[in-house]
Amino acid sequence: MEKIKVAIIGAGNIARSAHLPAYMKRSDVELTAIADVNLARAQETAQRFGIPKAFASTEELLAGAECDYVDICVWNRAHSECAIPAARAGKAILCEKPLAINLEHALRMQQEIEKAGVPFMLAVPTRYTPQAMMLREMVDNGDFGEIYYAKTAYTRRRGTPYGWFTDTSKSGGGPVIDIGVHCIDRTWYLMGCPKPVRVSASTSYAIGNFKTKGVERWRALDSDVTAFDTEDSACGVVHFENGASLLFEVSWALNAPGESFTQICGSKAGARMDPLVIYTEQNGYLTDNTPSPGKNDMFYEEIDHFIHCLRTGEKPKSDLNQAVTMQRILQGIYDSARLHREVEI
Ligand SMILES: NC(=O)c1ccc[n+]([C@@H]2O[C@H](COP(=O)([O-])OP(=O)(O)OC[C@H]3O[C@@H](n4cnc5c(N)ncnc54)[C@H](O)[C@@H]3O)[C@@H](O)[C@H]2O)c1
Repeated sequence: MEKIKVAIIGAGNIARSAHLPAYMKRSDVELTAIADVNLARAQETAQRFGIPKAFASTEELLAGAECDYVDICVWNRAHSECAIPAARAGKAILCEKPLAINLEHALRMQQEIEKAGVPFMLAVPTRYTPQAMMLREMVDNGDFGEIYYAKTAYTRRRGTPYGWFTDTSKSGGGPVIDIGVHCIDRTWYLMGCPKPVRVSASTSYAIGNFKTKGVERWRALDSDVTAFDTEDSACGVVHFENGASLLFEVSWALNAPGESFTQICGSKAGARMDPLVIYTEQNGYLTDNTPSPGKNDMFYEEIDHFIHCLRTGEKPKSDLNQAVTMQRILQGIYDSARLHREVEI
């Protein structure tokens, strides 16, 4: 089988700790180049993972190395500035979540990617856990009936990341766009991706740049950023054209226990993960089933799915339209919170 040539853009934490280790497990991929605006970081990462070429920009990488697709692992603001030249150069694109810093950037990306006609997938790894994959198969089989209500949370009591994450000009926002995208996207996917029509949400800025001792926090590689203008937490509800609703709660800092779950409720059965429980009836009695779908490396599965789609021409699970729709939901959450009213999506 001919190897797929992959170039990485962004040599930061997610590239080093998740994407590159996943590529290292494959024999059907050739990593041809890596780029980072911090050239020393790109060179060091290239050396560590045996990548032959390192560059200081997307443009230099596209001019100086061959690749079938680029894997974009830069901070949120730079997703569009890396994806657009890659699309213009005819490269397929795997792009870290969120699609973009805001809806305006996302629509510009959509226009360029559609014009170029290149394959695109948004990297939303929590769709690829065994629990999520099993639930989606059950949804597709109709095991839950009509899904009309869902609830999700990704809350941290004290878990604000260090670095560009708290600088809206680079991140686009706080927990909504950073981790809300994980749990809202996964839940929406498990609901069968109905069309969102309205959202009502609020954001809070009550805790801010806390100094709590003894807590673990994700650290961007440049963690000397001092800007801190992002929300601490948010909650709200997304309404869909089919009448279904999705309730969500997200936080980087909240005086409440941290939790992470997705719950879907259908006319025939319901489910909650993680841990996975199926709420159903058996012989007329309420029954809780606890299947054991196992464990995996969700980043490996996500990349595997994209490579499978490139080889077969199959549409990725999180394609461009879905990525833009998710960005509309995120934008709707921020707009609703700012305007203190429900907004149409
Ligand atoms: N899927 C997940 O679970 C997950 C987890 C963490 C981060 N992420 C996403 O991954 C992305 C990167 O996050 P991170 O934690 O690795 O950040 P990071 O700060 O550690 O790394 C980002 C890198 O991008 C580089 N960069 C910025 N602009 C660039 C440009 N125009 N061209 C080339 N390089 C550029 C920076 O120099 C830095 O090295 C973000 O979009 C984030 O949302 C996803």
